[in-house]
Amino acid sequence: MINKKILITGGAGYVGSTLIGQCLKLGMKVRCLDLLYYGKKSLKDYLDNKNFELVIGDIRDENVLEKSLIDIDFVVHLAALVGDQPCLAAPELAYQINYIGTKKIIEVSKKKKIKKFIFASTCSNYGISSDKQLANENSELNPVSLYAETKIDCEKLISEIDDKDLNCFILRFATAFGVSKRTRFDLTINSFSYEAIKKKNLFIFGENTWRPYIHVMDMSIYILKFILSDNSNEIKNKNSIFNTGFTQENFTKKNLINFILKYLPNTKIHYSNNVEDKRNYRVNFKKIEKLFELKPTINVQKGIEEIIEFINTNENIDKLFKSSNLEAINSFFSKKNNLL
Ligand SMILES: NC(=O)c1ccc[n+]([C@@H]2O[C@H](COP(=O)([O-])OP(=O)(O)OC[C@H]3O[C@@H](n4cnc5c(N)ncnc54)[C@H](O)[C@@H]3O)[C@@H](O)[C@H]2O)c1
Repeated sequence: MINKKILITGGAGYVGSTLIGQCLKLGMKVRCLDLLYYGKKSLKDYLDNKNFELVIGDIRDENVLEKSLIDIDFVVHLAALVGDQPCLAAPELAYQINYIGTKKIIEVSKKKKIKKFIFASTCSNYGISSDKQLANENSELNPVSLYAETKIDCEKLISEIDDKDLNCFILRFATAFGVSKRTRFDLTINSFSYEAIKKKNLFIFGENTWRPYIHVMDMSIYILKFILSDNSNEIKNKNSIFNTGFTQENFTKKNLINFILKYLPNTKIHYSNNVEDKRNYRVNFKKIEKLFELKPTINVQKGIEEIIEFINTNENIDKLFKSSNLEAINSFFSKKNNLL
């Protein structure tokens, strides 16, 4: 039993709803702060747990933050406007939530003497990089989206925090895949698998572009390693950026298609050279691999098997697919009482 209390912002989302389950299993007390863009179905297994508490509120609201951070040991800050499309559709909101919201929660975390603060960043920050050389934490960043720009601004802010004020970790996550209590279908592996099953055709652009991938469960495992293991205790904020994933899990889109074809051999693949994929990066995860020596619990091939099984056996799958990030966020903010 771990007698500690953790605040997870954005806990109702794809990553957070998996992380909450892991923390509760360890006997931790969990408070989730979330605006619930996607409702609270993802939390239904936790709502009756005496160690779980839900605060419905906005990370931009300082009063909400003050209350949410009472008696908390660790903060995992996941809440954000996530992905290129939602950020492009509402740039001011993206800046306010992703950057200003992060700045505010950092200030309150300092005041409340939080022991460890984890920030979810992204390997999208690398944008376009040479696919001959693997990007490490010191490589140049070439963001190709506002989403990544907001994350880079937060990284700069966090790296400069005095170690005495707050102990921070910045996890640059690979692209996630896999099933969670709010499975996202705007992620490459999940969406390719859905299209292959439902449409039997896949239209692929940028087939030779690279990206690293990580299962949503492994994201939680890494977050918990930073929080609970002593290995991370001496790391200074200026050295706190970690590419978070596995070096062996870098693949091109064509590699992914070949994996999918093993399970769904009748899928017709249409490669297009007319559209270019601006994102192309291979990532080196040696720094984190050296620190924790973890291997993927579910690698990409296993994850494809898992998501295919989920799609084939879930009655509401089309509804789930359609409630994509952008649609759900638009509908959330179009309701009268939800502040922009
Ligand atoms: N999934 C990935 O591939 C991936 C990769 C790299 C980094 N990340 C990062 O991990 C974090 C979690 O991603 P996810 O895939 O779970 O996203 P998600 O969209 O599923 O979850 C985000 C959650 O944050 C909440 N939220 C948004 N704005 C809020 C606000 N102002 N106040 C309170 N709650 C708010 C939403 O309601 C939602 O439940 C994000 O910061 C994301 O940038 C994700």
